[in-house]
Amino acid sequence: MKLHMKTVDLRSDTVTLPTEEMLEAMHSAKLGDDVYGEDPTVNKLEELSAKKMGKEAALLTTSGTQANLVSVLSQTARGEEVILENDAHMYYYEVGAFSALGGLIPRLVTGHKGVLRREDIENALRPSNIHFPPTHLICIENTHNRAGGTVWSPSQTKSVFELAKSHGLNVHLDGARIFNSAIAQNVDVRELTQYVDTLMFCLSKGLSAPVGSMVVGDRKFIERARRYRKMLGGGMRQAGIIAAAGIIAIEKMVDRLRDDHTYAKMLAKGLNQIEGIKIDPSEVQTNIVAFDVSGLGMTGEAWTAAMNRVGVKAGALEKGRVRMVTHHGIEKEDIEYALTAIEDVASNSSIIQKPKMIRTRA
Ligand SMILES: Cc1ncc(COP(=O)(O)O)c(C=O)c1O
Repeated sequence: MKLHMKTVDLRSDTVTLPTEEMLEAMHSAKLGDDVYGEDPTVNKLEELSAKKMGKEAALLTTSGTQANLVSVLSQTARGEEVILENDAHMYYYEVGAFSALGGLIPRLVTGHKGVLRREDIENALRPSNIHFPPTHLICIENTHNRAGGTVWSPSQTKSVFELAKSHGLNVHLDGARIFNSAIAQNVDVRELTQYVDTLMFCLSKGLSAPVGSMVVGDRKFIERARRYRKMLGGGMRQAGIIAAAGIIAIEKMVDRLRDDHTYAKMLAKGLNQIEGIKIDPSEVQTNIVAFDVSGLGMTGEAWTAAMNRVGVKAGALEKGRVRMVTHHGIEKEDIEYALTAIEDVASNSSIIQKPKMIRTRA
């Protein structure tokens, strides 16, 4: 068999499409004007989200980026410092929004596979002094995207929360993939969210809804977040169309994240057998598989371009680092297909010279 016969898209879990059940729910959703608080489907999704996370209230936003931004703006003032992990999505990939729009200063702290320890933060906290910007917020990320989908345990979250409270600080959780974390650790998601003041989670990643992220916290915070969402142009009208899919995402799509983790591990083990690729499969905890292809004599961009030509899509990080993400719609055969294609690209790389045609794993 020659060259590729299909496309396996492992760039991100954001490429997931809505399920049939979601499309039907969207079609028949009861709608109203959500800026007036009159969309019953949005109201239902917000109540469900708050309950799932063990908090008082929730707010539907357009994206994870908007959810993080309204969360931060709602509990800080211009000129304050915000503590974040070095590689936090909020710092790295959100266009500097909280600095540009909120006048906030990031104070970066190096974590351990994305996880901040109590002492890391303690060292970064500055005493009250006329020379220093005040700090009121610590942001954490679970699972941590750039660290490769790593999880924070309940006890790790608790220790940072306790430190925060002893200094009068709030903790915001970027929980874009918080359900992946809960499933990977076999804990109820509330074991992770009880130790944060506010959080956001995404409906549109592994949970497969087409649009939307939820901000969650106490009632007062959600009231403020609602104003900031409006300020940012995120007041949507008949948003029940989106919320209908979100309800299915929360009610029906959480348990299947386990399959994504199984396939991510399978992928990691297969990659570990390929010469020129560096990965430690024991570090793959959820659905993100990050690895190094520099041993093939290729940059991440060159490698992803070569993979793209054989129908397997991946994301380049930096230098020789790349990543693949499993998600709804990716099955065992797709992982086998991807591994065969990766093997063949590796065999044809300039360093490992064993020319072969790309073939499919029948
Ligand atoms: C950890 C994390 N936070 C926030 C976001 C932002 O979500 P969105 O792409 O919906 O803005 C992402 C997106 O990949 C993410 O991985």
